[in-house]
Amino acid sequence: MFTQEQQIIETKIKEFCAANDIPLAELKWQPIPFSGEWGFATSFFQTAANEARAGKGGKPVPQRAQEMAEQVKGQIGSVDGISRIDAVKGYLNLYFSTSAYASRVVDEVLASGLDFGRGAKKNERVMVEYAQPNTHHSFHIGHARNTILGEVLARLVEFAGFETIRASYPGDLGLGVITVMWIYEKLYKGQEPEGVHERGQWLAKLYVEATAMLEKQENETPEQTAQREAYDAERREMYRKWDTGDKYVRELWKATREWSLEELRDVLKMLDVKMDVWFYESDVDEPSKVIVDELIARDIATDERPQGGAVIVKIDEKLGLTKEKYRTNVILRRDGTTLYLTKDLALAKVKFEKYHVDRSIYVVDVRQSLHLQQAFAILKLWGFPQAEKCYHLGYGFVSLPEGAMSARRGRVVLFKDVADEAVKRVLLVETEKSADIPPEERGKIAYQIGMGALVYSMLSVDNNKDIVFDINEALSFDGRTGPYIQNAYVRANSILKKAGTLNVQRSTFNYELTKHEIELIELISRFPQTVEQAANEYRPLVMAAYAYDLANTFHSFYHAVNVLQTEDEKIRNARLLLVMAAKQTIENALRLLDIQAPEVM
Ligand code: ARG
Repeated sequence: MFTQEQQIIETKIKEFCAANDIPLAELKWQPIPFSGEWGFATSFFQTAANEARAGKGGKPVPQRAQEMAEQVKGQIGSVDGISRIDAVKGYLNLYFSTSAYASRVVDEVLASGLDFGRGAKKNERVMVEYAQPNTHHSFHIGHARNTILGEVLARLVEFAGFETIRASYPGDLGLGVITVMWIYEKLYKGQEPEGVHERGQWLAKLYVEATAMLEKQENETPEQTAQREAYDAERREMYRKWDTGDKYVRELWKATREWSLEELRDVLKMLDVKMDVWFYESDVDEPSKVIVDELIARDIATDERPQGGAVIVKIDEKLGLTKEKYRTNVILRRDGTTLYLTKDLALAKVKFEKYHVDRSIYVVDVRQSLHLQQAFAILKLWGFPQAEKCYHLGYGFVSLPEGAMSARRGRVVLFKDVADEAVKRVLLVETEKSADIPPEERGKIAYQIGMGALVYSMLSVDNNKDIVFDINEALSFDGRTGPYIQNAYVRANSILKKAGTLNVQRSTFNYELTKHEIELIELISRFPQTVEQAANEYRPLVMAAYAYDLANTFHSFYHAVNVLQTEDEKIRNARLLLVMAAKQTIENALRLLDIQAPEVM
């Protein structure tokens, strides 16, 4: 926001250093939070240290840094918009007059609108892979956490200026999938429940039933054992047929897989997620076998098949590590089948070579951390420079206060159920409180709030920590919740509606600002750097926490400062523009968090 002033000062600093033969270090600016004035600062420590290292200067670094700061200060003279310059403890501090700073922030937000906070275009392409559950299962609340984290991360990196590709990678093969197909074929052939979600969820029920049939019981009778073994033989036979590409089994697989994918696509629609690319595990199975040969030929993998073993990669040894870190990994079984890891190698190759991805982010359950680190390490051995920019965004478990989930036992918390329940509860309250809003409008608002509550509850906890999802807490209008932030937006909106049209183009803050106005301006001005930080650190939580702080600051402002009753018209106008800027910033933050901003609630 103050790049123009920064550039002027930077030029002067560079001139000074060039004239005095000083090896200037990279200039970094940091904002000075309000303490009577706003400002920004840069330090000369690094430069003084560089000078000392080069054998010049001859003074202690802090003293020399301070000397430079003072000399630069003397050189700068006066700069438009900057009210005061200080040289303190090796820092050069530049201050603004409070009214100029406030106007600058507010005017910039209003001029940029939905683009306020957008970062400069970066010449790097990022792929974010998320929303990749296994098919023939149901979409549960843990998958929702994954999808929300991934979507918000994609929005953040995109807004920060990276070219962004959203990718999904459902697991659509393996024993779990075959198990569902086996029982369907055996007991339910030709059946198919109505409804996209019911159909997808039904597959998960079949899985539970099949698992029970195939599981060894305690105190089995010989008949039961024989029965179970017969079932298992049928399942193995089906797997074999799938593998050899048997037409009938493949058709059955495609049809049932499509039920899961339809359910997934509908969930993504509910969460306003638009995938760019769909990869499937089954697509990379064959290509990954070719990769195994390449890795053997290049002596990255070791073929132990002649000794009756498998194909393995001794990652630690190949990387020259003496301590165990990545261990040794099988990439091809003795029977010639690939593993999850093998397929991930093939997938990465496609991401790098076909999609020219510079940074590759994987939003995956934290329990797969070692697996992904192993994959990244092999990519490095393989010679992909992008391996350094592969990043695993892990996330912890989601449970309800009632207890843990288990897909095998059928105790899963379905995302659709939770979402429906959240919306239903909001609608109940709305119907009571806001009877003046027309019913269909009310339905839409209830959806926005219910989903906002759910989404925010998945973002407000550090991704590595587990979440105990409490629906009452999430829906509360107080505390760190989606509705609390949405409510700040609604309040801003209602002030502006009551004020009517405003005929001022630029803000003027030449009056004594209250503490609440200062805090609000401070928070708003921090939005662009928060976008940058959240995107660079791949941390949605940074934006989630910011949105709460901004809302919180706005609520305090709202209670303390009566904008509409302000008598002095100039002050009233300035405050209205500040409210507009706050509303815009809340809207931008909410959008990055994949939460809608309702006009009323
Ligand atoms: N389908 C996998 C699962 O549900 C997640 C896939 C993660 N992505 C990857 N490239 N391995 O556990």
